[in-house]
Amino acid sequence: MSTAFHLEVTESGLATLIFDLPGKSANVFTLEAMEELSEIVDELSGRSDILCAILASAKKRIFIAGADVNAIAEVTDPAEAEQGSRRGQELFDRWEALPFPTIAAVRGACMGGGTEISLSCTYILISDRDDIRIGLPETKLGIVPGWGGCTKLPRKVGLMAALDIILAGKAVRSRKAFKIGLADALIPDASFPREVKKFADGIIAGKKPKARSSSLRAKLLEKNPLGRKIVFKQARKQVLKTTRGHYSAPLRALEVVKTALAHGHEAGLEAEARAIGELAVSPTAKNLIHLFHMMEAAKSGGFIEGGEPVEVNSAAVLGAGVMGGGIAQILADKLSLPVRMKDIGYDALAKGVQHAASLFRKQVKRRWLERPEAERRLALIRTSLDYSGFEKVDLVIEAIVEKLEVKQKVFAEIASIVPDHCVLASNTSSLSIDLIAQDTPNPERVVGMHFFNPVDRMPLVEVVVGNKTSPAAINTIIEVSRKLGKTPIVVKSGPGFLVNRLLAFTLAEAMWMLDEGHRMEDIDRAASRWGMPMGPCALTDEVGLDTAVHVSHIMSEAYPERLTYPGWMDKMVEDGRLGAKAQKGFYLYRKGHRTQPDPAVYNLLGITRKIDSPNPDRMSERLMLPMVNEAARCLEEEIVRSAADLDLALILGTGFPPFRGGLCRWADAQGGNKLALEMEQWTAKLGDRFLPGNAYRRVIEAGGFYELFPS
Ligand code: NAI
Repeated sequence: MSTAFHLEVTESGLATLIFDLPGKSANVFTLEAMEELSEIVDELSGRSDILCAILASAKKRIFIAGADVNAIAEVTDPAEAEQGSRRGQELFDRWEALPFPTIAAVRGACMGGGTEISLSCTYILISDRDDIRIGLPETKLGIVPGWGGCTKLPRKVGLMAALDIILAGKAVRSRKAFKIGLADALIPDASFPREVKKFADGIIAGKKPKARSSSLRAKLLEKNPLGRKIVFKQARKQVLKTTRGHYSAPLRALEVVKTALAHGHEAGLEAEARAIGELAVSPTAKNLIHLFHMMEAAKSGGFIEGGEPVEVNSAAVLGAGVMGGGIAQILADKLSLPVRMKDIGYDALAKGVQHAASLFRKQVKRRWLERPEAERRLALIRTSLDYSGFEKVDLVIEAIVEKLEVKQKVFAEIASIVPDHCVLASNTSSLSIDLIAQDTPNPERVVGMHFFNPVDRMPLVEVVVGNKTSPAAINTIIEVSRKLGKTPIVVKSGPGFLVNRLLAFTLAEAMWMLDEGHRMEDIDRAASRWGMPMGPCALTDEVGLDTAVHVSHIMSEAYPERLTYPGWMDKMVEDGRLGAKAQKGFYLYRKGHRTQPDPAVYNLLGITRKIDSPNPDRMSERLMLPMVNEAARCLEEEIVRSAADLDLALILGTGFPPFRGGLCRWADAQGGNKLALEMEQWTAKLGDRFLPGNAYRRVIEAGGFYELFPS
């Protein structure tokens, strides 16, 4: 049998236990690995020749990734889940009770169970490598840290720092871990093994290094019962604000930490186990774990057969506007590539560079980047008004005005300048890739790379495939997107691609509700209450009314029989109500912040408000059903490859509530027949746009989206 742990003991009494899960790139605590570790702990506790032990990993980038998520995904019995929690707690407590000091040598990502065993070591030593994160992401999976994390982290870093990590499911960088006292030493990566050994040898020689602890100020506050009460109250308020009551895990975690602090270690562990029993079997946890799996799957694979990605060593960005400046910045930042940024005016170029500089400044301010390194990366962006330097680039990303003729002309121009292998990507949000490539020689290298705004924060890239796009071009964009830290989803070119097409249906319905006399705040509240990050009126303001109205025309021309908008849309733009950027839209603004819906809008649009006590459930149902219907069409037309890809794209591109697991997964959980019935009821009331389409009928017959369109 292959084993996951390898133990070496030197004559001087130094034990090194190396975790190396066979055949995997990451160490996870599978059931078998836990059993093996349990036997090793039994053996270690009886050995009098050992004076110190180091826990290390053989994996290059990962120390320990945590528990086996599949096991949590499968558990359906609360008692079994609770039992799993107790087993881990008991094992890590036995590790903690070993009769010699132990060191967690963290030289890679350390998550969940990895952090919990580290917290059960006497010392945590961490490498200063940039990519390393240590934390407890459990609440992001809908559970709480259940192998002692809720109980042991506050002991190590103090209450406030612990809550900051546990409640948000955070992982922190090495420097931060050292600063808050989670790590006892921060070690340069190049000398990591040597320094860890020196630390251990010191212990064997009789030294007793002091473990770090939280700051005096924090201690004073937390030791005082009144101070503690304030900390818990604030934390609860913050959780309710960020989760809007949709996620119970952070609140449960808060209760567990409280119990541990008030009643001690054993009570804390007991509360952890009970919370795991309840949460691990909940639909929210299952949906969040489903999202986790989709994210993991999107990180690897997904390449199209038939062409290797082009190696990108230098790139160019066309257009230095809102999107171009952001795209140039992440290319320089994440890929450290020389980037040429071209525009048609000096002012635009200056603005683009300023935008990139401000993003780097933000990173320096947050201490994610040292100033000299930020300056070096910014200097990688070179600006120009002509195509100089383009003869050497491997990738061009175009982000100029959304006008087909201009894009066609520009693509034809650059094709004659760049090398033959260079991939030509467009960030268009609505135009056909085939039409953009129409006048370009070798149109197979033209592909869409649709970023979302703001580029540095939005995690999705739609990789838009035209009829002639080559696998090599697609694979290049998949690879580059991943290196930029984004999740690429391959979609076929078509009006609105995937995300904006689906979104158009829900936004149109919101506009019809407004037209019928629903209040803007009621529409937005219904969507937020359902879990959307913001309501449709607020979202339209953010996107910009000019853009939204422009897209609405394109989309209703594409799908006239089922996508229509009230006739007054253009009036908003004519009135200068361009949304947040104009500080005037559906909402009123003060000092850059959205305040409340502007009552003047009703008059402007000729709407008399008449619906006073709306039913928010019916309203959200009405916003979601057209998207479900359209999702089936998108899948049938192969706009997107699978229900899981559609769900992931919508979550990452629009903030569709993760706890619902995605649009298709939510619809499947509701049951197709139930939703079809609701669609029919709405059809009788409001017209054919709600009629369940043939595509959705086929989904229902097959038993759901995930049955008909599996990954
Ligand atoms: P923008 O108006 O902020 O910037 C466009 C820039 O392109 C301007 O600086 C303009 O001077 C420049 N430009 C125009 N013709 C040019 C040419 N021939 N060569 C070089 N530069 C030229 O526009 P924004 O918002 O950055 O949009 C750019 C593209 O990205 C559009 O295709 C848009 O549909 C797409 N997009 C926009 C999103 C957004 O939220 N703003 C989101 C996703 C995609």
